[in-house]
Amino acid sequence: MEFKHTPIMLFECLDGLDIKPNGIYFDGTLGGAGHSSEILKRLETGRLIATDKDDEALAVATERLSKISKNFVAVKSDFKQFDKVLDDLGVEKIDGVLLDLGVSSYQLDNAQRGFSYIADAKLDMRMDKSSALTAEDVVNNYSAEALTKIFYEYGEETFTKEIVKNIVKFRETERITTTKQLADIIKMSVPKKVQIAKGNPCKKVFQAIRIEVNGELANLYDTICKMIDRLKVGGRIAIITFHSLEDRIVKDAFKFCATDCICPKNIPVCVCHHKAKVKIITKKPILPSDKEQKENSRSTSAKLRIAEKICE
Ligand SMILES: C[S@@+](CC[C@H](N)C(=O)[O-])C[C@H]1O[C@@H](n2cnc3c(N)ncnc32)[C@H](O)[C@@H]1O
Repeated sequence: MEFKHTPIMLFECLDGLDIKPNGIYFDGTLGGAGHSSEILKRLETGRLIATDKDDEALAVATERLSKISKNFVAVKSDFKQFDKVLDDLGVEKIDGVLLDLGVSSYQLDNAQRGFSYIADAKLDMRMDKSSALTAEDVVNNYSAEALTKIFYEYGEETFTKEIVKNIVKFRETERITTTKQLADIIKMSVPKKVQIAKGNPCKKVFQAIRIEVNGELANLYDTICKMIDRLKVGGRIAIITFHSLEDRIVKDAFKFCATDCICPKNIPVCVCHHKAKVKIITKKPILPSDKEQKENSRSTSAKLRIAEKICE
């Protein structure tokens, strides 16, 4: 299957990163190298450092980037380990960071990866196939309470109670091993009239399980703050999110790093000595244009936030 993924808000990201031809740029979510290819094309003496934890993405992206220039290095890593990646390469400070969070179209569309609620496959959902936890483990081994928490928190799923009840009932007799089995359980838990009004009811629960399997939200806030520490003054960080939880984390992390004093309001004199390190470029997030949303339905929930480092 061909690795297809259309980069979202590509030119908004490139503009937002304000790429310098001699700069060092870090793309933590390389995917099919849609954004990275365009960054690399704009570099002369600069360098692109990119990570992905998906072997298939890394292989395809490396091939695509090699056709553009040699000024890049693609590393298999979680972007949350970016400090180590930069240290290993002897890079102290960088000019820009891009994160395009979540999964690629290829991961979603390739049934074998077990992310899809449309196609039938083994429940998997791991971005990094060498990691231990799979969707099958989550669905079969997590307690009803843990599943409830995940579906509410990561999926904001209204019919969580009914879905969890039916999962627990099903697994009393048989393990849930395929995406279709799980999709069928979700469908029988959500009233038909809701399904007719709102479409396929599996989206939120599949998203919630995927977030859990890949630890997508864990340490994201701290990672963003650390990435800001590693930017040069004048450097930019651009982050695309696809759901409200992720967007809230990015918004809060930017706000924290853009705030001078964080003392409690009742303290008359600042004792924290916290200094704003960035200014927020996007007071409101940038959204895909109507044209992009029409041409690429996967862009509709995307939000882009950008900040610029102003001091160490
Ligand atoms: C939305 S896609 C990026 C697409 C890319 N910007 C492009 O235009 O082709 C997200 C990619 O990031 C990877 N990814 C997600 N979270 C990651 C993490 N914490 N560390 C490393 N890679 C991650 C996924 O495996 C996926 O390939």
